[in-house]
Amino acid sequence: MNVLIVGSGGREHAIAYCAAKSEKTDKIYCTPGNAGIAEYAECAPIGAMEFDKIVAFAKEKEVDLVIVGMDDPLVGGLVDELEAAGIRTFGPRKNAAILEGSKAFSKDLMKKYNIPTAAYENFTDPDKALSYLETSKFPIVLKADGLALGKGVLICNTLEEAKQGVKEIMLDKKFGSAGNEMVIEEFMTGREVSVLSFVDGNTIKTMTSAQDHKRAGDGDTGLNTGGMGTFSPSPFYTKEVEEFCNKYIYQATVDAMKAEGRPFKGVIFFGLMLTEEGPKVLEYNARFGDPEAQVVLPRMKNDIIEVVEACIDGTLDQVDLQFEDNAAVCVVLASEGYPVRYDKGFQITGLDEFKKHEGYYCFHAGTRLEDGHFVTNGGRVLGVTAKGKDLKEARANAYAAAEWVQFANKYMRHDIGKAIDEA
Ligand code: AMP
Ligand code: GLY
Repeated sequence: MNVLIVGSGGREHAIAYCAAKSEKTDKIYCTPGNAGIAEYAECAPIGAMEFDKIVAFAKEKEVDLVIVGMDDPLVGGLVDELEAAGIRTFGPRKNAAILEGSKAFSKDLMKKYNIPTAAYENFTDPDKALSYLETSKFPIVLKADGLALGKGVLICNTLEEAKQGVKEIMLDKKFGSAGNEMVIEEFMTGREVSVLSFVDGNTIKTMTSAQDHKRAGDGDTGLNTGGMGTFSPSPFYTKEVEEFCNKYIYQATVDAMKAEGRPFKGVIFFGLMLTEEGPKVLEYNARFGDPEAQVVLPRMKNDIIEVVEACIDGTLDQVDLQFEDNAAVCVVLASEGYPVRYDKGFQITGLDEFKKHEGYYCFHAGTRLEDGHFVTNGGRVLGVTAKGKDLKEARANAYAAAEWVQFANKYMRHDIGKAIDEA
């Protein structure tokens, strides 16, 4: 079959890698894709929010299945548009993607269905938010309701900081219309774990766990980024934690969405905090994580197309989802200065090494081809993933592979997966 992937990051590269392995796939297209994805797919320069063009492209290329990787088009309703045109699509419809698209919605859902999460209040009126803060405990967490490139969350240590935060989100509209409403919630402490899952509207099958590193600098310092590296599985995601989440979080979320008349089909990403009172939901995403997908998908034994089709057809209960009994670490190679200001256009060398080594992957995020060479074209440039028999070995392998690749302003964190030493 012909498969179209919508997106342009390392996540979509990992999806394309899996789709290319599938016996069911004849031809892969990607909009807009990137220079690395072009190894497996014919990329077309159509933006992820250009819905009409995507639908027309899918029809023209006789696409049998679309996989939407990114959050913006999901929340904007791309799946609905493709389905209306008779094209099979993997991902939640607009009325279900709201699980990620509105934090106020997801908090209310959790409250209504008793799914463990931080205590909170939603606000549409900045004055009410400001007076609520007067009686709050600090630190406290402010969240813009809508999508804000992962930047709409402010952790405030004092009343002054929090007041300033409300002003930035609701009055200055620092995150645009994402700040028309906001959530103010209790600050939680604990280990964070990401669990991705496949969902067919009724059945949920969770994938192996992972952990992201969101801050730019070593030791979790510096600004928040899209993610500087991941490891999988998380040693902190124990059998006990998993059993708790099975009982109180995963199926409960799927059932809640169904009960609300918003059946969810696609990937639910559970951002969990393992607190002293037990696991709680930090956030939901309605798609694979990036760079979580870069460590989770290479470890998946199943044919991704079969699993995705089962989600669409409602037959996920018949799928035996399996992951390799090993580990993977992904180190993001970024441009010095990311996420603020950085130069691009530098030639990248060493990429051929990945073809010579089994269990090593280089997923492209911000690259482009220039005169037959790969050059840097973004803040996050590449995700270097390596497997190993355990996390320690995977980490050593990933950092060794990170040295194969060179470009002028290469920057990476040196402590991805360091937490595993404390497990
Ligand atoms: P989110 O986009 O909601 O996942 O938030 C981004 C990051 O902010 C999370 O990965 C956490 O590190 C942090 N965070 C969000 N909510 C809370 C909370 N209630 N308590 C502590 N940290 C939080
Ligand atoms: N890595 C976090 C995310 O994809 O939202």
